[in-house]
Parts: sequence; C-alpha cells; structure tokens
Amino acid sequence: MSSWIAEPAAKPLRGELRVPSDKSISHRAVLLAGLAQGSSVIEQPLLGEDVLHSIAAIEALGAQTSRQGARLEITGCRQPLSPAAPIYCGNAGTLIRLLAGLICGRGIDCVLTGDASLSRRPMGRIAEPLNKMGAEIATTAAGTPPITVKAVKGLASIEYKMPVASAQVKSAVLLAGLVAEDGATVIEPAPCRDHTERMLPAFGAQVTRNGQVVHVQNCPALQPVQMSIPADPSSAAFFVAAASMVKGSDLLLREVGINPTRTGALELLRRMGADIEIVNQQKIGEEPVADIRVRAEPLRGIEIGAAEVPAAIDELPVLLAAAATASGTTIVSGAAELRAKESDRIAAMAALLANLGIACQEKPDGIVVEGGQPTGGEVDSQGDHRIAMAGATLALCCDREVRISDCANVATSFPGFDQHAAAAGWKIHPSGPTPTS
Ligand code: S3P
Repeated sequence: MSSWIAEPAAKPLRGELRVPSDKSISHRAVLLAGLAQGSSVIEQPLLGEDVLHSIAAIEALGAQTSRQGARLEITGCRQPLSPAAPIYCGNAGTLIRLLAGLICGRGIDCVLTGDASLSRRPMGRIAEPLNKMGAEIATTAAGTPPITVKAVKGLASIEYKMPVASAQVKSAVLLAGLVAEDGATVIEPAPCRDHTERMLPAFGAQVTRNGQVVHVQNCPALQPVQMSIPADPSSAAFFVAAASMVKGSDLLLREVGINPTRTGALELLRRMGADIEIVNQQKIGEEPVADIRVRAEPLRGIEIGAAEVPAAIDELPVLLAAAATASGTTIVSGAAELRAKESDRIAAMAALLANLGIACQEKPDGIVVEGGQPTGGEVDSQGDHRIAMAGATLALCCDREVRISDCANVATSFPGFDQHAAAAGWKIHPSGPTPTS
C-alpha cells in the first residue's frame, strides 16, 4: 500500500504547469470511439488508470487501439461482441455507468465488475431507467456491482426525470437512447456536467437542449472523430486551492477546461477571497478552455448550498482543505451525494480535518468547518484519490508534515501528481511503512 509524506510549504508555489487531461471527457471519447464505424484519433487523453480501464473495456468489445505518445488511435468495433470474461472497471464509476448505458441495447451479454470501492457504489440509479427502456440489467441485491447486462437489441424511448443531479446517470440514459427508436429525454434537477451532450454531435448523434431537458435522437451507428482533450479542472483545483492558500504563491495552470458545469469551485474560491484570473480563453472542440492564474490571498469561510454542489462536486474535498485554513466558518449543505463517491467523502474529510487539528462537525448532507491552524499528523485517504490529494494540499499549511496512507489510487485520475507538485515547489514523497512498536 503506498503512503505519502506531504510537507508544509517552505516557500511560495510558483511556476507554470499543465495538469493531466480531463477524466470525464477522456472516458466519453474512448467509449464512443470504441463503437464508431472507423478510426478515431484522440489527442492527449488522460492515461490514468480509470481511462486505461475504458480502453481495455472497448478492446474487450472488439475495438482496436494503438498509442503513440499522447496520440490514441481507436478503430471502433461497429457492433460490439459479447466479451469472453467480465469487464473490470477498476475504481471508475464513470466507466461502469456509461458503459452499461452504451451497451445495454446492443444485443450483447456482459458482466461489469469493479474494485472494492466501486463494488460498494449505487448502480440502481442507472439500472432503474435503463430497465424502463427495456434493457435487462441486474445488480446485487444491495444495488451494487457486478452489473449483469443481458442481450437485448434495441430499446424503448424514455423521458426520464432524474431524482439526483448526476451526469453519469444522465449520460447512461442518453447513450442508451442512441439505440431507442425515438431517442431519449432526460430532465436534470440541476445542471450537471454536460460533456456527453457536447461530444455526441461530433460522433453524428443529434442532441437538443431546452433548459434542463436534454434529448438525444436515435443514432446507433457512430462516426469516427478527431479530438483533443483539455486539462482536467478537477485536477487543476488542487493547485488552484494550494496557490490560494500558501502566502506569496503565483501559479499559472495551462489549458484547463472551463466548461461552466465544472467551474463551481473557482466561483466558490473567489467567494472565499481567492485571486483567480482566467486568461487565453479558447475552444478545444466543443469545450471551452483557458489558462488560470492564481495568486495567494487570505481566504474566509463561506456557506455552500445545494444549488452550488453539482458544479463543484469533485472539488469539495479540496475546498474543505482550503476552508480549514480560512478565517471563520464554512458551512456545506445539500451535498449528500458526496457520500456515494469513491469513499464517503463527508466522513473521510471530517476524519482528515479532525486528525489535523481542525474543528468540524459532520452533518447528514454536509459539514461545518472552523478555519484554524492545522497541526499535521496522520490521515487515512480511504483509498480515495481526491481525499489523498486534499490531504496533501492541507499539509502545505500545517505546522508539521502529514503522513497520508493508501495513496495508490491517485493514479486513477492524476498520474504524476507528486511530480507536478514538485515542479511548483510542493514537496510530497513516498513514506516507508509506519513503524510498529
Ligand atoms: C462524472 C460525474 C460525477 C463526478 C464524477 C465524474 C462524469 O459523478 O463526481 O467524478 O464523468 O460524468 P455523478 O454523476 O455521480 O455525480
């Protein structure tokens, strides 16, 4: 099990860097190209473990892939084949849910499995709408993986009002809608990331949006694409928060996705007092992209409510690390979805903050954090990549080093996190086993 020692900042964080590419967009590009009728080229996909599982998944369905440096070529399988063995989705909720939607009406039998964390996560939320469309999807009695998909060819249309604001559920239904005669309609309770809707037209599928109602038309045969993937705003968020927190810092983050469904954390940090400048705006495909310049400023506590959660859902752990160093109290509510992530992120962050000497109170749907001076000590990442990186971020402002356990899963979303950190003057190194007495 790999552990880290993250050191308090000895000096301001400075420099320029490009964090790895967007995980959500990479999964979608790989899965859709995997079914397309011809060869697609994806430039700069994230090659973290989660997306490597997506690449292996489409290969298991009959696609061919080859990689040259940052260029991934995928020859789609047109018609997927029932794989001989279960498809292992690792830690990746996006992969298991989107893949289930994509294949459940394409006439193949398939079992989708995952690691210990994924095997605890709720899949009833996709099985329910997909089965309403005529798919035959089963989960365990607890509604968790493995997911068993039985061969069904073609699906019925649906108009689905999502009970939770989940881009993975929305995407699963839209991808299933590609093989439904009249497509599929999803009504979101609040805007959540829209990469699927933005990307589908490049593959030949028509998508329309009217407020929070999204419709995809029937389009079983997908065209190949050429596309490039921007840097991941969720990975950049660790550096945005870190540079805001460490006095004297000045960091430039290059080519970061600034899709408005993903920039909630930037808005929240600004409300906390952060100095964040968006420069060099451009578009990569349908995705808006920019460089982000961050200079340290004293932060203050804020209230974060349900309406602000979906656009900052993956950044809330690091926002709580920032809140721990802010003046005053930060109150997060309406964020119960955090309990259904790679770990229960409310409980994991409450334990992390308490271990580092920060007063906080866990609530069923959020947390209250009293800003202060974190001490340092030991934290358990619970095998969750974003908890590990949030711990390393808070370490920058601690009195002494922080030892973080179980960090291997950082490679699922942010391979080379420690090297990127080092380039900005932030010291994180592997630790030996904890001594036993
Ligand atoms: C994702 C959607 C979000 C997010 C996850 C990636 C996606 O999950 O937390 O990291 O790529 O669609 P939910 O759909 O469960 O909110």
